[in-house]
Amino acid sequence: MSLRAKRAPCRRTRAATRGTAPAGKGEATSAAESGFPQAQPGESCAAPGRGDAPRPIIAIDGPSGAGKSTAAALVAERTAFLHLDTGAMYRAVTLAAIRAGLAAPGSPPREDVLGRLALRSGFEVQRAGRRQRVLLDGEDVTGELRRPDVEALVPLVAGLPSVRRALVPWQRRMAEGGGVVADGRDMGTAVFPDAPFKFFVTADLDERARRRCRELARRGVEASLDEVRRALAERDALDSDRPVAPLVRHPEAVLVDTTGLSAEEVARRILDGCPGLAAAGPGFGDGAGEAAPPGPVRPAGRRRAEAAAEGRHSDAPSSDGGDR
Ligand code: DC
Repeated sequence: MSLRAKRAPCRRTRAATRGTAPAGKGEATSAAESGFPQAQPGESCAAPGRGDAPRPIIAIDGPSGAGKSTAAALVAERTAFLHLDTGAMYRAVTLAAIRAGLAAPGSPPREDVLGRLALRSGFEVQRAGRRQRVLLDGEDVTGELRRPDVEALVPLVAGLPSVRRALVPWQRRMAEGGGVVADGRDMGTAVFPDAPFKFFVTADLDERARRRCRELARRGVEASLDEVRRALAERDALDSDRPVAPLVRHPEAVLVDTTGLSAEEVARRILDGCPGLAAAGPGFGDGAGEAAPPGPVRPAGRRRAEAAAEGRHSDAPSSDGGDR
């Protein structure tokens, strides 16, 4: 099996601090017999905490273009948690399917075939600063995950139960040990229902469409606002009306309406909604970050976070350069 999860750079895990694993550098998780990536012994690769600081899972769900990925990345930066961008995983499977000729516009992907592909396809998720990179068979495909054909097909692929059965265990494994900011559609409802902090991040359709238009323009893609608004509404319907893991707000999820807010403001609201974290020590959730342990993730990411904070959502990069 070649499905792998690789998170770089990873630092000490709880197990490592207990002395059951080599301190420091656990990098990769390897494929298991089951086909799901397994952590190396003692290496959950969870993001580092600060001493005894709590390491909960922060689950963030919401529709496309609401800015949740950008905010999740900022929150991950401030807490030094891992940002788990699950949309990128569904996109990677979609890209693999397109490349293998198993998905194309007008021919719906097949449940059984795609399920097998999701288990088989050799993709890895790496962390580089606050960004996440996705590799497919060793090739960095991060920049391809928002191609129009991927964009068009990913809701269909993500709606396949077989694909979700392949990816959800991986997502849970990556979150073992806690210290994760997970964003997607079903984080709080299905994947991490016990997450103590759940958020539903949304914005009105017009604002989301404007953000998406700006993002497309940055990529040199011309699209009318109407066209983009329509595509987003269709995407919302596909994500919300599907039988498996539909996009719905968990009753406990705190609603964050990002309309008119900057990425920094959204991240602040999320951090304010995680009271235990704020109490964990200086720098935890206060945006200062000086109390973070030295490490390769934080400094570079912090500079990007500051740059992102100067702009609105549409100008702040998400893990794959998109605006969500
Ligand atoms: O967040 P995103 O736009 O990158 O997500 C891409 C697609 O994957 C979108 O159609 C929703 C779907 N998705 C999902 O079904 N479940 C997730 N946990 C994350 C994304």
